[in-house]
Amino acid sequence: MTFEGNAAERESAAGKIDDRTIRLILGRRSVRAFEGRDVEPEKVETLLECAFAAPSAMNIRPCHFVVIDDRNLLKKIGGATERTRLVGGAPLAIAVCVDEAAYERDHKLTDGTWMEDGACAMENILLAARALGLEGVWVKIANRPDREDTVPPLLDLPGGVRLLALAVLGYGTEHKAPHSGTDRARLHRNGW
Ligand SMILES: Cc1cc2nc3c(=O)[nH]c(=O)nc-3n(C[C@H](O)[C@H](O)[C@H](O)COP(=O)(O)O)c2cc1C
Repeated sequence: MTFEGNAAERESAAGKIDDRTIRLILGRRSVRAFEGRDVEPEKVETLLECAFAAPSAMNIRPCHFVVIDDRNLLKKIGGATERTRLVGGAPLAIAVCVDEAAYERDHKLTDGTWMEDGACAMENILLAARALGLEGVWVKIANRPDREDTVPPLLDLPGGVRLLALAVLGYGTEHKAPHSGTDRARLHRNGW
C-alpha cells in the first residue's frame, strides 16, 4: 500500500508517538514578509540558545551572533542592496558571523569549514523559529561582493570577521505548503 502525503503524515499514520519535529522540519519554508510586531525577548533568547547548540567541526564553535532589532538599522540593511531589501520589513535579524582570520590562525584550518559551522547555526535558528511560531529566511551575505561590501560595515564588524548570512525573522504573513516527498532522480543507494 502506498501512502500519500509527507513523512510526518506517514509517521502519524504508523502510530509513532511524536511527529512534531518532522512536521516542523518539513513545514519550514522561506517567508519574506512579516507582521509589524516585535519578536518577544524570551523568544530571541531561545533562538540564540539554539544557535549556540549547533554542531561545529572539532567543537570549535566559531560563530558570533549579532542580534539586529533596531528598525532603523534593519531598514539600512534593507537599503544596502536589492537582494537585502526584505530585511527592511522585518522586526529581527540574526547575523551569523565568524572571525575567519582567528579561525585560520588558531586552528590551522584554511579549508573554509567555518562556513559549514555557520550553516548549521543558521538552520538551527530557522527551525527553532518555527517552533516558536515565527517564520524567516536565510539571506546570504558572504562571497556576494555587493552584499559583503555593504552590510558588514553597517554592523561595525571588526576586520577579519565574516558575515555568513542573516536569519531574517518575524511573525510571517506568507503561508506556504510544507515540503513532502523525496526526489527519486537524486536518490542513490550504496553508491551513485
Ligand atoms: C545557502 C542559502 C542561501 C540563501 N540565500 C537567500 C538569499 O540571499 N535571499 C533569499 O531571499 N533567500 C535565500 N535563501 C532561501 C532560498 O531561496 C530557499 O530556501 C529556497 O528557495 C527553497 O525554499 P524554502 O526555503 O521555502 O524551502 C537561501 C537559502 C540557502 C540555504
